[in-house]
Amino acid sequence: MAIETMTWRPGDAGELPGALDIIDQRLLPAVAERLVLTTVQGTWDAIKTLAVRGAPAIGCASAYGVVVGAQTAFGASTAEAAAAARAAADHLATSRPTAVNLFWALDRMKDTIARAVESCEDGAALCAVLLDEAKAIHQADVETCRQIGKHGAALLPNPARVLTHCNAGGLATAGYGTALGCFYAAKEAGMDISVMACETRPLLQGARLTTYELQQGGVPVTLMSDGMAAFAMQNGKLDAVIVGADRIARNGDAANKIGTYSHAVNAKHHGIPFYVAAPKSTFDLSLASGQEIPIEERAREELSEFNGRQIAPEGVPTWNPAFDVTPAALIAGIITEFGVIQPVTEANVLAVLGEA
Ligand code: MRU
Repeated sequence: MAIETMTWRPGDAGELPGALDIIDQRLLPAVAERLVLTTVQGTWDAIKTLAVRGAPAIGCASAYGVVVGAQTAFGASTAEAAAAARAAADHLATSRPTAVNLFWALDRMKDTIARAVESCEDGAALCAVLLDEAKAIHQADVETCRQIGKHGAALLPNPARVLTHCNAGGLATAGYGTALGCFYAAKEAGMDISVMACETRPLLQGARLTTYELQQGGVPVTLMSDGMAAFAMQNGKLDAVIVGADRIARNGDAANKIGTYSHAVNAKHHGIPFYVAAPKSTFDLSLASGQEIPIEERAREELSEFNGRQIAPEGVPTWNPAFDVTPAALIAGIITEFGVIQPVTEANVLAVLGEA
């Protein structure tokens, strides 16, 4: 993909103090503007308002956000930098509740603080260790996505016409993508792959980001509204569905962008395999089922307004959950970097993830 989702931007004096540089996804595809984040609050706002979004990308951005926090004590003691880094991690953890990759990445950063605090001679040294860890999380995510892509492409027929929802692509990860990674891998393998992207109301990640990314990547893509998916299935236009996930419980129930569950129900009815593509960092093995997954509710204006214009009468109540949960029973397989969990049972989840 031509656009880099995020990168660490070194400062004038070297790598540190530096800044987190992201593409502002709120403006895509019309405007490709970069945001340079030099404060923890700025990073929190970018995650909250979806300037950076998608579970793995939120995790990577929050890891860099901890570095941004630590470097406020760059010239101070190790203890002061550790306190600033821990405060940054605690604050960033309040930005969005559903994608578990956020908490996974912040826990890794907190573990790194705990490990490094004794050996670092000053704040600058601790910042350097934290930046290395954030970069490691970032780089590993790209490799993880490539593995997911390879396993996912192997599940598809050739030719394949696949539906996806929201954006689980390079923009939603450190690069390449999970669900979209499967499409890129299929194309790289010379397969005849085409995608139908649902627009994804209310914030249009499918219309704005998935079509943009796939077009840039040379994967044929057709846009449709969310409500058209069942009709497309009934008309024999689809061979499979592949979506991403924000949090997957131990039994395989998977939370993803609102509207995903409808696609799974429709796919089951039409006998079309419905796959979820996600890295191990998206699994929350502490949760027995999807009923325990916290679902973010977002602002009324996302529904009652469109492009800043009011579209619903004043005073009409709204309900705006950002995610829904697809039960494991509707999922034909979960595509991970270690292979495909199929059939989706708790035992298979634990076995494939190496946690049995
Ligand atoms: O609200 P968003 O845009 O962050 O929601 C994103 C999704 O639901 C994605 O499908 C999910 O995070 C997987 S990204 C690889």
